[in-house]
This record gives sequence, structure tokens and C-alpha cells, in this order.
Amino acid sequence: MSLICPICQTPLELSGNALACANRHSFDRARQGYYNLLPVQHKNSRDPGDNQAMVEARRRFLDGGHYAPLAKRLAELATERTPARWLDIGCGEGYYTEQIGRSLPQAEGYALDISREAVKRACKRDPQLNWLVASMARVPLADASCNLLASVFSPLDWSEAKRLLAPGGGLLRMGPTRGHLMQLRQKLYDEVRDYDDEKHLALIPPGMHLAHSETLEFSLHLADAQARADLLAMTPHGWRASAERREAVIAAPFDVTVSIRYDWIVNTQE
Ligand SMILES: C[S@@+](CC[C@H](N)C(=O)[O-])C[C@H]1O[C@@H](n2cnc3c(N)ncnc32)[C@H](O)[C@@H]1O
Repeated sequence: MSLICPICQTPLELSGNALACANRHSFDRARQGYYNLLPVQHKNSRDPGDNQAMVEARRRFLDGGHYAPLAKRLAELATERTPARWLDIGCGEGYYTEQIGRSLPQAEGYALDISREAVKRACKRDPQLNWLVASMARVPLADASCNLLASVFSPLDWSEAKRLLAPGGGLLRMGPTRGHLMQLRQKLYDEVRDYDDEKHLALIPPGMHLAHSETLEFSLHLADAQARADLLAMTPHGWRASAERREAVIAAPFDVTVSIRYDWIVNTQE
């Protein structure tokens, strides 16, 4: 186990139903099976991260299989890298994490999110994985402990990512291209904001470099009103767009482009 104490950074060991460090900081295993490694002094609000409504909407939408091709390709890319230990940063309710875990049965898998509501649900998807409530800004894992990091539709702390990566390891990032959900955005806004889908590449720290990129694009027919409502609720469009436009989106079926890029960014430092 490569977990470290979020308070004093010394190794954590299993002690009964808890994790404890040499300095007697102790973290109980929750009934659902995850560990809460987010000390109250590291929280910037009472319930940080995605709330229950967003988590539920994302869970229904993803379990509906609408983004299944995205998860399949993500898992294939992870498998090709054959990591011994991997971590999904900002795992949400665990849909993608579960599929990575299934494709890497021999590896040691970890997943974290700052939202307790998300991790509470995620950990039920695969009890073999190590599920953590934790912040991506202070990841409770040792330096150079991971061969693969996954970051899926999530923000990322790049210096923490680099700290966690073993030499030769890498970050598998999945995020939207500028064309993602274009028809939905056209329905919601008079002027669709252009989105620079290479912006994150400027954040890659020295000692890491982009080794591979690819995009996956397909058209999705949103026949079901619940799926349309959930897609809105799981994205910032759910609160950014006007109520009138949102209602119009939910009212009638439409086709929307799903367009995603995958980047594999490797740690080249020894
Ligand atoms: C758009 S969701 C993506 C969730 C999941 N990867 C997926 O695609 O289904 C972004 C996630 O990042 C989490 N998050 C935001 N800030 C975070 C932080 N500082 N540390 C850890 N997780 C964070 C949110 O709680 C949320 O679950």
C-alpha cells in the first residue's frame, strides 16, 4: 500500500478497520468501503466537489450507456500502458474508474474525489479498488508511486500529478474538443463560446511531454427526456443556461455530437 497520511505525509498502514500512521493519525474505513483522507482543515467548504444531484444525474446518464464508446477506448489505452499501480484523479461516481479497473485486473487501483457523495456511490462499483475522499491538490499517495494517472473530464493539479508519477509513467487525460456537444450548446446560447481544446497542453510541466493524442467522435441520439435532463444537470450548462432554453432542450429529442480527445503525457524524468 502506498498511501500516506494527509496530515504528516508518513506512510499509512492498515490497523483493524482503519488506516493509521506512526504519528497516530487515524482514518476509519466508511461503512460503504472508502477512506476519508480529507482532513477538515483541508476543506474549503462543508461539502466540496460535485453535489448529490449532479452525481445522481451523471450516474443515470453514464449507466444509460450513452458514453460507453468513450469508456471503452479509455480502458483500452490504459491497458496498453500495463501499469502496476494507477490512480483515477477526480473519479466522480466511478463509471470510468470501474472500466479501467476491469481492464487491469492485476494492477493496484486507486481512485479519489473530493466529493463524498460521489465516492460513496463509486466504491460500490468495485470493492477491489481503493476508493478515497481526498483532494487532488494533496494526494495521499507517495512520490513516484503511480505508473498511470487518469484524469477524465476533471480539473487537474499538474505539479501533484508529476510528483505522483514514477519515471516512465504517464497521465491519461480525457476531455472535450471544441466540437463536443455543439448542437446542445447551440440550443442553449445565442453565441456559442469557442473553446480552446489545447489549452491544457500549455500547463504540462517541465519533465513531462505529450507522447500521443487522438480524438473519438460520434453522434448520439437523445431520445429520452430523462437523458436530456441528466446531460444538462451533469454539466455546467445545467446552471449557466436560462431556464427557458433548458426546458426547450428537455422537451424534444435531438442528435448531438460527442467529441473527445485523449492525451497521453509521459514523465520523462529519472
Ligand atoms: C466533471 S466531474 C468528472 C467525474 C468523472 N471523472 C466522470 O467523468 O464521470 C469532475 C469531478 O472532479 C471532482 N473535483 C473537483 N475538484 C476536486 C479536487 N480539488 N480534488 C478532487 N476532486 C475534485 C468533482 O467532485 C467531480 O466529481
